[in-house]
Amino acid sequence: MSSTSGDFRQHVTVQTLAEKKRKREPIVSLTAYDYITAHLADAAGVDLILVGDSLAQVVLGYENTLPVTMEEMLHHTRAVRRAVRRAFLVADMPFGSYHANARKAVENAVRFVKDGGAEAVKIEGGVARLPLVHRILEAEIPMVGHIGLTPQSVHRMGGYKVQGKTPSAIDALMADAEALDHAGVCALVLEGIPREVAARITAAVTTPTIGIGAGPDCDGQILVFHDLAGLTVHPPAKFVRRYVQAGEVISQAIHSYCEDVRSGAFPADAESYHLPRESSHGTASRPPGESHPAPLAGRK
Ligand code: KIV
Repeated sequence: MSSTSGDFRQHVTVQTLAEKKRKREPIVSLTAYDYITAHLADAAGVDLILVGDSLAQVVLGYENTLPVTMEEMLHHTRAVRRAVRRAFLVADMPFGSYHANARKAVENAVRFVKDGGAEAVKIEGGVARLPLVHRILEAEIPMVGHIGLTPQSVHRMGGYKVQGKTPSAIDALMADAEALDHAGVCALVLEGIPREVAARITAAVTTPTIGIGAGPDCDGQILVFHDLAGLTVHPPAKFVRRYVQAGEVISQAIHSYCEDVRSGAFPADAESYHLPRESSHGTASRPPGESHPAPLAGRK
């Protein structure tokens, strides 16, 4: 089987991710937040599925990722878990769920594994998170790191800005990456950093790097599903490739439906239920209180 089509026989594990880096096989990653999208991504051979806290913006309509709660993240992680068979399933720890203290953070990480069915959790930040990273790993929970443009730090960064552009910022990123690598994270998301810096980090660490807006030299790539599918309200960032304009396709379909209902073209007789021929007296009368014709089973 070719490296671009993915190995459909085996469940992806932390060992698979490490092996892919060793063999220089790109790790295909994508976010998902619901059952059907997760099913499609898994069946297409995506290696790593992330229930990202981007849920906040692309599904729940919040302005940034900060308001999304543990309960909301868990709800969507469970939906994705029901669909995923092969991919490695990672849940994003939302803002506030790991910042107060390590004990609460470990409790929350455990909830993602126990209640959500995740195989790993992701937290944002580098050296500053090391004590917490150790605690989560000690709890037997694989961890994904995330450095560079970390959206939960939007207020500290003063907006969504490419990071790692000055010599001192590059040194700090290298230190973050090496610290997380030594701690034993199973993957490291590099977001919004210059291609050259991502390439340096990728060469320096044994952990597989997963880039988003970090150029093609990472060990894998991740996109937000709604960006890939053209299902966003705002124009995409420079690093996004839209593989389909699903928003336009769906909008067209909804317009056609509106037109058909208003003109009487939908539903047609073939899309209607009928009384059995022998019991029909010309008009379909329903027993009082029954809102649908009786035999609805199977929706045939
Ligand atoms: O929440 C998210 O979607 C993410 C990816 C962009 C890596 O963290």
